[in-house]
Amino acid sequence: MVTLAVIGGGGWGKNHVRNFYEIQTCRLKTICDLNEKTLAAHKAACKGVEVTTKSDEIIADPEVGAVVIATDAPSHYKLARQALDAGKHVFVEKPMTLSPADAEDLVRRADAGKRVLMVGHLLEYHPCVLQLKDLVDKGQLGALRYVYCQRLNLGVVRKDENAWWSLAPHDVSIILFIFQAEPVSVTAQGQAYLRQGVEDVVFAQLKFADGRMAHIHVSWFDPHKVRKVTLVGSDKMATFDDMDASEKIRIYDKGVNVSGSVVGYDQAISIRSGDILIPRTPAGEPLRIECLHFLECIEKGTTPRSDGRDGLRVVRVLDAATRSLKAGGAPVNL
Ligand SMILES: NC(=O)c1ccc[n+]([C@@H]2O[C@H](COP(=O)([O-])OP(=O)(O)OC[C@H]3O[C@@H](n4cnc5c(N)ncnc54)[C@H](O)[C@@H]3O)[C@@H](O)[C@H]2O)c1
Repeated sequence: MVTLAVIGGGGWGKNHVRNFYEIQTCRLKTICDLNEKTLAAHKAACKGVEVTTKSDEIIADPEVGAVVIATDAPSHYKLARQALDAGKHVFVEKPMTLSPADAEDLVRRADAGKRVLMVGHLLEYHPCVLQLKDLVDKGQLGALRYVYCQRLNLGVVRKDENAWWSLAPHDVSIILFIFQAEPVSVTAQGQAYLRQGVEDVVFAQLKFADGRMAHIHVSWFDPHKVRKVTLVGSDKMATFDDMDASEKIRIYDKGVNVSGSVVGYDQAISIRSGDILIPRTPAGEPLRIECLHFLECIEKGTTPRSDGRDGLRVVRVLDAATRSLKAGGAPVNL
């Protein structure tokens, strides 16, 4: 049975604590947080689990075989490196690191120590995203042409990371997961309206070598709460609306037939607008599925779906978009 510790039991980390405390096939031994009030709440809720403000105690504890890191992004690299060097398996929240060089270093250390390194790309465990990927892989949309993702809300306004680094890791990971490819170039534009130097809204484009394209719009300064992915294929189109409680996926039998055999342009293009299918979507808390996957990878010695290399690919795109943002939207090649 894997013995774990969670470092960072705040807004999101508390969900890791709940899951690993409830899962019966592992033992949550210790929770670490710098905030004493947070620790007191966890101590009251999780009988028998130790708490500490010192991550060094967890790193030095030989009983702890795996560490879950859900602290603020700037601390991910150092904590993950220390844990890997101490021989622990590591689950680090997104974004894995703030630079590709740091992400590469973590991948190297995990490989050298033969440890599981997994990144919290939650959406890769969402049953609806798996359903979308299955549709694409089986060719049910025809050839995938382009994808766009919207992740918008009013708040939470962060001060240490911009909306791109806070929200876009999810969309970048979905796009790379569905496309099974890395973009050749990235452009991004954004603005900081609420706090100087911290972009509240970003529009980014990813171009792929084969002509496929993806667009990401993230914002915490928007009237709508939107979490939506739209896929456009040569034969059909599909949407995943995570804000819709019961009808998250829609498959549109819509398309445009282009016939090359006629002379006039009008005759060559015909619009097809058929039925809309709303398939049954499997249930399951994505984070619970993700936590169970981490444990299974440790027990079976297998590679996580969102392993360190996946984390690195996502960080490369996040970093390229940041360079484009700084260059006023100029394309950055990868
Ligand atoms: N996968 C997802 O869907 C998802 C959702 C939200 C947040 N996140 C990620 O989770 C991470 C945490 O985000 P959050 O919203 O919970 O932030 P948060 O500020 O609410 O919580 C972070 C916690 O970490 C603690 N902490 C910081 N440095 C520490 C250290 N060195 N040692 C021990 N504790 C430390 C803080 O005291 C705080 O309680 C971020 O990387 C964020 O991007 C992921």
